[in-house]
Amino acid sequence: MDVPLALPAMTEKMRSEADRVLNDEFFLRGETVGTFESEFAKFVEAEHAVAVSSGTQAIHLSLKAAGIGEGDTVITTPATFIATANSIQRTGAEVKFVDVDLDTYTIDLEKLETAVEEIENLSAIIPVDLYGYPVDIEKIRNIAPDATIISDACQAHGASIRGKKVGTMADLTAFSFYPSKNMTVGGDGGMITTNSRELSEAARSFADVGRSIGEGEYEHERIGYTARMDTYKAAIGKEQLKHLPEWNERRTDIAEKYTSAFDTLDEVDLPPSGNEEITPAWYFYVIRTNRRDELSEYLENKGIETGVHYPTPVHLQPPYRDLGYEEGDFPRSEQWANEVLSLPVHPHLTDEQVNHVISNVNSFFN
Ligand SMILES: Cc1ncc(COP(=O)(O)O)c(C=O)c1O
Repeated sequence: MDVPLALPAMTEKMRSEADRVLNDEFFLRGETVGTFESEFAKFVEAEHAVAVSSGTQAIHLSLKAAGIGEGDTVITTPATFIATANSIQRTGAEVKFVDVDLDTYTIDLEKLETAVEEIENLSAIIPVDLYGYPVDIEKIRNIAPDATIISDACQAHGASIRGKKVGTMADLTAFSFYPSKNMTVGGDGGMITTNSRELSEAARSFADVGRSIGEGEYEHERIGYTARMDTYKAAIGKEQLKHLPEWNERRTDIAEKYTSAFDTLDEVDLPPSGNEEITPAWYFYVIRTNRRDELSEYLENKGIETGVHYPTPVHLQPPYRDLGYEEGDFPRSEQWANEVLSLPVHPHLTDEQVNHVISNVNSFFN
């Protein structure tokens, strides 16, 4: 039996909508981009949404919209996909890392508090909702009331805290539609959500060659980028979004099955599974074990695809080593990179596939 780690859905309706807009609308800035933005904004209960070309651009343009650049310092964690840190570097601001909390796989709040006290020119913080586990933005705000908070929710579409969806608690929130994510647009894509009109207009302008919003086509008020979402991708995205709640529910069901099946395994640390306040949007089911590579090979031989997200913490990637970071700087993130293994939790798994994963993880450890 083969069990893929991710399986992006592409229904007939998604294909026909993509086809329809390719015939009826301009390839860029078509009406359907606006429809997808409004529906996504409605889903996360945000006042504004701006569709962009990738999750990386969603983070980068959020920083630009917030006026972050040279002379600023932005905090994030090295336990993330490298794009989070790259987006900061590309603005000219300086990235400062804060280690991860292994219980939540998100930024360590105590260490964040110390960092905030120490950094003089702190402008922004980018917490990462890794594997769909949302960071409590209220806590970050209490720690750093003056910093702009940009949530990297690239893996957390539909997660919520105290009943409120991820998407409005931070000043700006960035989502990715990369094909393995909980929803996609049939290729690269991203979304920025915010309750601030000013920030949304600045982000939209940056994504659209710096165009002035509501002015003539060749009026440009800033140096912008070409980072818009294609119309056909928005057509696919708006159909994907309709399925997201039901897909996330299935992900949760599978995660709960894994948690009860693996609870007694001594050699395994289980992922945070949420509580009465926190509802994750399971992206992968990520366990930690110091027999990670052995387990991954064992499962591969049983047809089960696993992944390591991510094998190198960002501070030890070459461009960040060049900034002076070295081994030992963020021990928890280094441990995280050595121990994590992502198990499939996508909604298209059959019960038989889920049971196949459970019985093989159990047989490996027993
Ligand atoms: C945590 C995180 N941040 C940023 C990104 C960047 O998104 P994209 O690949 O759409 O540029 C991703 C996705 O790959 C991600 O998982």
